[in-house]
Order: sequence, then structure tokens, then C-alpha cells
Amino acid sequence: MTHVYPGHFITFEGGEGSGKTTQLALLADTLRGLGFPVLQTREPGGTALGDAIRALILNGSKDDPDIDPKTELFLYLASRSQHVTEVIQPALTAGKIVLCDRFTDATLAYQGDGRKLPKEAIEQMTHFASYGLVPELTFFLDLDVQTGLARLKGREEINRMDQETFQFHNAVYQGYHSLARANPKRIVIIDASGTIDAIALKIQGHINAFLS
Ligand code: TMP
Repeated sequence: MTHVYPGHFITFEGGEGSGKTTQLALLADTLRGLGFPVLQTREPGGTALGDAIRALILNGSKDDPDIDPKTELFLYLASRSQHVTEVIQPALTAGKIVLCDRFTDATLAYQGDGRKLPKEAIEQMTHFASYGLVPELTFFLDLDVQTGLARLKGREEINRMDQETFQFHNAVYQGYHSLARANPKRIVIIDASGTIDAIALKIQGHINAFLS
């Protein structure tokens, strides 16, 4: 769908430990400081229902520890539909800059390349679930898998997806690269191996060009 809103829809993607959440928060602060109305949100989640789904997917169920890959896909998509209609579309209609931590690219990379579900089916389902909404700009924070996973070790909360094998995370990483190759205008690859400030500056440069 062509972008028909007065606001802007920008997403952040990357593997575990790539620093996208930190960078999203920094960009939100910078944009607010410049006087832009910003909505900061994430997937799965972003709504009360989405947060409940997030807890289910990321923690799993005590009595049902293995989530079937298709069940997992549907849960991510269920969170997305609610998020798009309840939060994202109204914010874009109100002229806000929506910064979203993960969106449809994550489903293609994780459920497609990671879980090996068929990509064409996922593409159709994500289009349906997101009401055809596509980000105008996506930052892919590119960090090698080993470094990203090593960063997780310092975290208090390690979720069900974090605990997947290196092979899984590597397939996700390759998946993001092929998405970036297929969508060179929308997806900007950001080398995420530098300092937090250096990465923030690179992102800021792209945003300045995008907004002007
Ligand atoms: P995060 O908030 O740390 O990025 O955690 C969300 C996890 O969910 C992360 O491992 C990526 C995963 N995910 C999918 O597998 N598919 C999706 O569609 C989304 C949005 C996230």
C-alpha cells in the first residue's frame, strides 16, 4: 500500500543484541527534542492484547513448552493486526512519527528463514494481518550473530527466542540481509558494531535526509 498518512512509519530490525531498541529510544528522544510528535512502540506488543500475546510467545506456556511454528506465526500476526488498527494507524493519521521495534520483516526473517515456514505464505499473511501497511523506512542493525548473542549474556531476561541455536539466529541474520537486498530503497543497513553514539549519528543522518 502506498503511504497515505500525514505521519511517518519507521521500523527498526536486527538480530538479538543488535542494539535496535537502544537506538530507537535515542532517535525518539532526538526527534521529540526537535519538536516532532513521536510514538514509540514495539512488536510483539504495543497494545494490552499484544503485550499478553508477547508474554505467551516469549515465555511459552509452562504446560506447553513447545510452540508449534505455525501457532507462533499466528500469535505474532494476531499481535500485529491489533497493533496496526488500535495504535499505528491512528498515530499515523494524527501526523505522528511512529518508531516501531520490529514489524513484518521480523516475521519473514524469524518465521521464514528461522523456522523455515514458506515465505510466500508468510508474505500473504503478513500483508493481510498488517492491513497492507508497509514501513516507509527500515533500519536494519547489522551485527554479527556471535557478538549479538554474547551481548545477551549480560541481560536479566533471556526469552524463548533468545535461547534458539546459533544456526537459527544465523539463518535469521541471512534472512535480514536478503530482505535488505530485495528492498534497497526502504531498508537501510546500519553497521551496528560501533559505539552507541556513532551508530546514533549514522541513523540521524539518514533521518535528516528522509524528513527533508
Ligand atoms: P525483542 O523485543 O527482543 O526483539 O523480542 C522479540 C522476539 O520476537 C525476537 O526474538 C524476534 C521475535 N519475533 C519473531 O520471531 N517474529 C515477529 O514477527 C516479531 C515481531 C518478533
